[in-house]
Amino acid sequence: MKVLVATDKPFAKIAVDGIREIIEGAGFQLALLEKYTEKQQLLDAVADADAIIIRSDIIDAEVLSAARNLKIVVRAGAGYDNVDLAAATSAGVCVMNTPGQNANAVAELALGMMVYGARNMFNGTSGIELLGKKLGIHAYGNVGRNVARIAKGFGMEIYAFDPFFPAEAIEKEGVKALNSAEELYSTCQFVSLHIPATAETKNSINYAMLSKMPKDAMLINTARKEVINEAELVKLMEERADFKYMSDVMPANHTELSEKFAARYFSTPKKMGAQTAEANVNAGLAAASQIVDFIKNGNEKFRVNK
Ligand code: 3PG
Repeated sequence: MKVLVATDKPFAKIAVDGIREIIEGAGFQLALLEKYTEKQQLLDAVADADAIIIRSDIIDAEVLSAARNLKIVVRAGAGYDNVDLAAATSAGVCVMNTPGQNANAVAELALGMMVYGARNMFNGTSGIELLGKKLGIHAYGNVGRNVARIAKGFGMEIYAFDPFFPAEAIEKEGVKALNSAEELYSTCQFVSLHIPATAETKNSINYAMLSKMPKDAMLINTARKEVINEAELVKLMEERADFKYMSDVMPANHTELSEKFAARYFSTPKKMGAQTAEANVNAGLAAASQIVDFIKNGNEKFRVNK
């Protein structure tokens, strides 16, 4: 039984060592493909793999058909928009994620980017504080909940909108639950995005939504670039000199945004939210254990395709 770890953005060594221990401890074989530059390398590596652990690596129909022995793909992380679920289902391949395992790492980065933006990217000028400011959490999943927990320490007033999370459960955690995204954006000076990229959410953060935000607004995106209508974001930022965009998912129009709004726009060069030793260990080891449990016992608890 061969398990391939295919990570364009590698895990920390400690995580790879832990994955190896679990996989080899189960009597399976581990193969590593890190920092690959060509899709062909992935196509070659998957040829004899029974299971694959990935991060944001693209698993499309071509990869799936090249992986003739494949039984399971585990996305070590939360968002699985990089896997063609329908193609996996028709190839008889189980797809899982590891929900929650990297949530604290992403949440810490969201707060870090908030401070960075509020202090004018540490450029020496006078900024603002987070204490007492209204923070809107757009989707209250594992990351959103961690953002709320940390933001409480900053003394922020916290709001959330999540149509799939019961309002009473949100309120129980000391967070005000709002009834619509529109209400969240018109209430909160800071909005932190935690929605997945789906057919419904793609391009949904548009001019109409963002223009509702109060003065000195800041949008923090540690989710996915696809949820932003990037052309409309430019239009809004051209009209509103008080609007800042902090992103951990580099927009397609990164060059335009950095040229036009150098003082109010920041993006990490590569998605850094889950790039910590702890998150790599949590998500990587969970992925390895899920594979062993699936192969040996048929456990499909974290399956995301039908
Ligand atoms: C996720 O969906 O888990 C995060 O976006 C992290 O992605 P990464 O594993 O590519 O860093």
